[in-house]
Order: sequence, then C-alpha cells, then structure tokens
Amino acid sequence: MGKVWAFASGKGGVGKSSVSAGLAVEFAKRGMRTLIVDADIGLRNLDLMLGMQDRVLYELSDCLEKRCSLEEAMVPHPTYPSLYLLVGGQTAKPGDFSTGQLTKIFSTIRKYFDVVLVDCPAGLGKGFRNMLAVADDLALVATPDDVCLRDTQKTAQTVFKKATLSPYLILNRYDVSSLKNGSIQSPQTIASNIDMALLGTIPNDAQVYSALLQGLTMAECDSAEVTIALGNIASRMRGQDVPFENYLKSPFRKWLEKFMRGLK
Ligand SMILES: Nc1ncnc2c1ncn2[C@@H]1O[C@H](COP(=O)(O)OP(=O)(O)OP(=O)(O)O)[C@@H](O)[C@H]1O
Ligand SMILES: [Mg+2]
Repeated sequence: MGKVWAFASGKGGVGKSSVSAGLAVEFAKRGMRTLIVDADIGLRNLDLMLGMQDRVLYELSDCLEKRCSLEEAMVPHPTYPSLYLLVGGQTAKPGDFSTGQLTKIFSTIRKYFDVVLVDCPAGLGKGFRNMLAVADDLALVATPDDVCLRDTQKTAQTVFKKATLSPYLILNRYDVSSLKNGSIQSPQTIASNIDMALLGTIPNDAQVYSALLQGLTMAECDSAEVTIALGNIASRMRGQDVPFENYLKSPFRKWLEKFMRGLK
C-alpha cells in the first residue's frame, strides 16, 4: 500500500510543485511505482514541469464524471516508466470534488503505487482541505524568510487542530552563503523556532530554474547540492535516518567526501 504525501504551503510560489515533481522523479529513479497528482485545480503546471504537456488527455474530473477510467487519466512519464501523472482538472473547481469520491479514488490508487505525491494549491482553501482528507503525511514547503515562516507555522497549527496531523517542514531556496555570513539561522534552528519537524532543506540554486526551462525537474538539474538534498528528503520520507546536511563543512571535507564518492 503506497503512502500518500501531500505538499502544501501557507504562501504561494515557494516551490511546492518544483519539490514534489523533483521527488517524484527521484522515487521513480529508484524504481518505485510513483504517482504524482496535480491537485492545483484550475492552475495545473506539473505537466509542464515534467515535460508531459502533450500527453495529458484526461483529468481526474473526467474520471469522476465517468468520461474515462482512472487508468486512462493516469499518464506514464516518457523517460521513467514507473512514474505516472494524474492532473486534477483545468476547468474544474475544488468544490466539484467531494471527500467521499476522493477517498474512494485514493484507496484504489494506494493499491497500485509505492508512493503517491500530491501537489496542493497554496493556502488553506477547499482544494487543500480536500487533499488533507486523503493524505497520510503532509510536508509544508517554506522559504526561510520571516513572512513565509510565520504563515507556515500558522498553517501547521491549523492543520494540527483540524486533522491531528503533524506536518513536516521542507525549507526550500535556502541560501547557504547567508548561513556562512551569519545572516540566516541553521535549518534545524529555523524548524525548531516554529515547532516543526524538519524533513530537509533544498539550497537556492539557479540550476533549478535552468532545469525548469528545459522541462526537467530539480532531481535532474546540474547542482549536486540540490540533487543530494532531494535524495536525502526522499530517503527520510521512506523512514530512513539520514543526517541533515552540514552546510558549514570546510572546503577540504567537501573535497574529501566528493573524492570518496568517486571511489565507490
Ligand atoms: N531550490 C530552488 N532554487 C531556485 N529556484 C527555485 C527553487 N525551488 C523553486 N524555484 C523556482 O521558484 C519558482 C516557483 O516554484 P513553484 O512553481 O514550484 O512554486 P509553487 O509553490 O508550486 O507555486 P504556486 O503556489 O504558484 O503553486 C519557479 O520558478 C522555480 O523554478
Ligand atoms: Mg505549484
């Protein structure tokens, strides 16, 4: 039975879609049967991020209205055969989906996949609440600025009250040079300041945007820091105890680790 992970945020534009698409590719690279669901109803973008814009013929809304089967609505990725995309509905509204319908669909989906990732719309609206009802775990994606972190803490508290689910924190676009010059706190300190469990940190890196322009995800970008961070998050989602990255490592230590990796 695959676990359903929802990716949400208090604020928009923090990287939910980029992170969930990257993780989906990371799981698929590990040979896991992976489904990624674009639950940003009316504003889908995962098809573009995954380079699959010409392949989506049906959406979840078509499936609910019996215009297609669930299998027909799940589109296989051209490069990773164990990765499938299911989009919510470009012309649908979050109110068109009932919790009962979604629970039924997700109980079927769980049987066929090892992991299901749901990219939610920003904020606490109906689109997010629909997905909260079917998620086993929730990761809130945030950027490390005070405005976003306050929204994230508020969102986490609201979720905890409503769903008794403790969301994890993914810090995205973390500026490692600001940590080095002391103008930003460590990821662990930031997470503990807002009472959240840290799932991982992804550095801010121009390669993420360059990859996006080529229809590639952050799992396929040219930054080793980003791909390693993403891989560690994927492992933690699988329950593995992976230490957090030490961004204050000396250049010699970094060189040594790279050298040792090359020997394996
Ligand atoms: N780690 C990163 N480093 C650099 N750029 C990033 C990083 N993560 C995301 N971005 C960029 O941030 C922008 C917004 O990302 P994305 O669309 O994934 O956010 P979102 O939270 O899904 O937005 P929305 O709330 O509108 O759905 C994109 O241009 C993406 O390339
Ligand atoms: Mg998005």
